[in-house]
Amino acid sequence: MKTRVGIVGGGPAGLLLSHLLHRAGIESVVLERRSRGVLENEIRAGVLEHHTAELLREIGVGGRMEREGSVHHGINLRFDGRTERVDFADLTGKSVTLYGQHEVVRDLISARLESGGELIFGARVTGLSGLETDSPTVRFTDSDGDEEALDCDFVVGVDGFHGISRGCIPGSVRREYQKVYPFGWFGLLVAAPPSTEELIYALHDRGFSLVSTRSPEMQRMYFQCNPNENAQAWSDDRIWTEMHARLDTEDWKLTDGEILQKNVVQMRSFVTEPMQHGRLFIAGDAAHIVPPTGAKGMNLAVADVRVLAKGLTEHYRSGDHAALENYTETCLRRVWKASRFSWWMTSLLHRADSDPFHLKVQIAELDYVTSSRAASTTLAENYVGLPLPV
Ligand code: PHB
Repeated sequence: MKTRVGIVGGGPAGLLLSHLLHRAGIESVVLERRSRGVLENEIRAGVLEHHTAELLREIGVGGRMEREGSVHHGINLRFDGRTERVDFADLTGKSVTLYGQHEVVRDLISARLESGGELIFGARVTGLSGLETDSPTVRFTDSDGDEEALDCDFVVGVDGFHGISRGCIPGSVRREYQKVYPFGWFGLLVAAPPSTEELIYALHDRGFSLVSTRSPEMQRMYFQCNPNENAQAWSDDRIWTEMHARLDTEDWKLTDGEILQKNVVQMRSFVTEPMQHGRLFIAGDAAHIVPPTGAKGMNLAVADVRVLAKGLTEHYRSGDHAALENYTETCLRRVWKASRFSWWMTSLLHRADSDPFHLKVQIAELDYVTSSRAASTTLAENYVGLPLPV
């Protein structure tokens, strides 16, 4: 098999890249280990930055997002028994869109298939070779167990944190930065009407919690837990007792409902440098991980892929390599800013110890952030998304 760009991974980053390349007349093949059904039903985060939503609209895949997603003009911060709103529209003129990542994946898969794109599901990539030549090869085993080889001009690794791509950048040139947090998020998918019009991020002595949404019938909620907590060991009663204890105020009570799904996610910040080696480029979770507190994960992947699509387009149109050569540097400047923001929001809202002094300082910071226009603008402009590099 032969193509121009071999894309390892069919999550939002891989699918979006393939779509952007198609629009520029560049052929690609997407190899995805999972089945289409699994990919389309995986519950992940659901906040699209202003620029992410705009890009999806611009490239013709925003129709369902427009109809079914909901635009949020602010968030609520709840602490010390009170709730303060951060008004994104007033502070930045921008908003975010609540629309599940798996819905974006569904829309991109349909768009790719409609335009004859080649997506291979059930493909297990076993190795990348020739990365330092002009014709690298991706080896994989297809869903029938047959060994295949895909020859290409470029390989893009968008196969997530546990994928094989990052490890193909030699250890002698690779540098990794990591912080693992001493807590996790217990995620709930709940059949219930919304309790709040906009998200609530709450700090409580018992720990962080978050009330988000997926649709008028389906709510997404999280609470801080032990990183190794066994989700199945928690009864619904115990979960609701914990959520009410952390969130309810004198004049507001969380609406509970049937818990349809529960899972625990670990929290880490991770950045690898460089994001390119020879003809291999890595993007999204393969290159960097943020804790979910600022909902930046998929948005960062979208920004990487946009830089890469532009660089590849210039390479094929005019032979200009400057954008591709600067790929790592261009992406990492924004990645580090988003890493800083996600780390900061995580530290602001989670209890890492039982130190009462620390809690008082966190409350003072939340009070400052929500009462100073300068500080709340800092939060708002990072949350709706910093400007894209290209
Ligand atoms: C979500 O809706 O899944 C969500 C929202 C906000 C976050 C993280 C996750 O910060």
